[in-house]
Amino acid sequence: MMQVKDLTVGSFEGAITLVYEDKPANNETVDILKSKKVFEGKSGQVFYKTTNDLNYEIFVGLGKYEELERTDLVNAVIRGIKQAEKLKINELSINFIKANGLCTGGVTKSIAQGVKLASYKFDKYKGNNEVYTPNVTIIGGPKEKFDKMRAKIEEASNVADGIILARDLVNEPANILYPETLAERAVEAGKESGFEVEVFDEKQIEALGMKAFLEVAKGSVHKPRLIVMRYMGNENSDERVGLVGKGLTFDTGGYSLKPSTSMDTMKSDMGGAAAVIGTMQALAKNKVEKNVVAVVAACENAISGGSYKPGDIIGSMAGKTIEVLNTDAEGRLTLVDAVTYIIEKEKVDKVVDVATLTGAVLVALGTEVTGVVSNNDEFYDELIVAARRSGEKFWRLPNDKCYKKLYKGDFADLKNTGGRYGGSITAGMFIGEFVQDKPWLHLDIAGTSWSDSGNDTTPKGGTGAPVATLYELVVKHECKHK
Ligand code: BES
Ligand code: MN
Ligand code: ZN
Repeated sequence: MMQVKDLTVGSFEGAITLVYEDKPANNETVDILKSKKVFEGKSGQVFYKTTNDLNYEIFVGLGKYEELERTDLVNAVIRGIKQAEKLKINELSINFIKANGLCTGGVTKSIAQGVKLASYKFDKYKGNNEVYTPNVTIIGGPKEKFDKMRAKIEEASNVADGIILARDLVNEPANILYPETLAERAVEAGKESGFEVEVFDEKQIEALGMKAFLEVAKGSVHKPRLIVMRYMGNENSDERVGLVGKGLTFDTGGYSLKPSTSMDTMKSDMGGAAAVIGTMQALAKNKVEKNVVAVVAACENAISGGSYKPGDIIGSMAGKTIEVLNTDAEGRLTLVDAVTYIIEKEKVDKVVDVATLTGAVLVALGTEVTGVVSNNDEFYDELIVAARRSGEKFWRLPNDKCYKKLYKGDFADLKNTGGRYGGSITAGMFIGEFVQDKPWLHLDIAGTSWSDSGNDTTPKGGTGAPVATLYELVVKHECKHK
């Protein structure tokens, strides 16, 4: 539970105080700690002590005022709450602070997100169902904005729940989560939060002509599902945003088999699907007044006598033929049919596809920046505005016709790989061949949606990226602050 109150430090079992390195804290203890250089307010620093009446004071460093980004604030709150969890504190206060470029709502949102995400663990298979949910009160905020702050807490908690749902889905292993059960989880989320879910089985997918999608799916005993989610929050508008999530519940690579060292995390190859499901939940819970359709072509890339093979020439829902040079470049095959479906059958005006598409994006951008390919500058700018509000990071790769020759087919219209060089670009542009005239963003989240090792603020496994940005992209707030 989270509240906003006009109180001062000292009325709680524990108080988290966020401290800048280069701003006065108006707190005697902090002044002493700073002068002794025990705690200086540096980013990442945490210090705690008991008070005379045996309560705890936890100090968390924010670093320099000018350098603080939204994510740093969220992470500082996470560090504070984690410390409180260790100290078993259930009643907590956090001091409101001003932050560079963030409005009151932005600061409140960051605190609420940090509080909610701090105690996330995926430990249900360890028989642990205990979750640490302290009562947290934000104190010292601007009184005249308390109502607005309360609304922001509610909104941010719902977005955090969407992030948590995405993490849970990614972390769920492939023996539990396969196309059919992923569809069930989407149906459940829809029922609970208020969006419509329609699930198509193999026969219906065939009737739709989704040939490329079916080729990838046909080697597995787990049958594919097309999951269609509709949230119509604004009757008075005929604008519709389309979200497409890559939904490979496991990717062995197929006959172009992955080495075992790069296969062990491939339960996470439905990170795009998880992100769009989490986003739909957040939008519906917050009753956002927009119309959004999300589509997941869920399947498993497995090996059997019936699997597709390198060299195969296959069709697609759009009618283009594709030469399969590598069965491990499967994501784009499922995505192009999902993109065709969402444009032709769901009549969306814009398309965002979200996919753990290439290892190459990890080489190019690492694990904290999502790679983007787009055919539309304005839509890309909207993404960057949304990202400023979410704290997540994106970088655009060129969508230049010089790359087209790399994936032009020898024996078919296209081939499914353009080779190693520029691998994230050609993968994205391949999908771009199917978006017709629609403004389109391709988000390659192979690096950002999964954390191999985890750190002090994000646990190992699914990160929930880029739910927060997709949410902001759809909402398009008027407020120009971060
Ligand atoms: N799911 C993988 C991409 C991936 C790699 C996701 C690492 C997360 C971490 C995708 O299906 C894949 O195998 N891509 C190939 C493409 C290549 C064959 C053109 C790759 O990146 O090696
Ligand atoms: Mn693959
Ligand atoms: Zn894959």
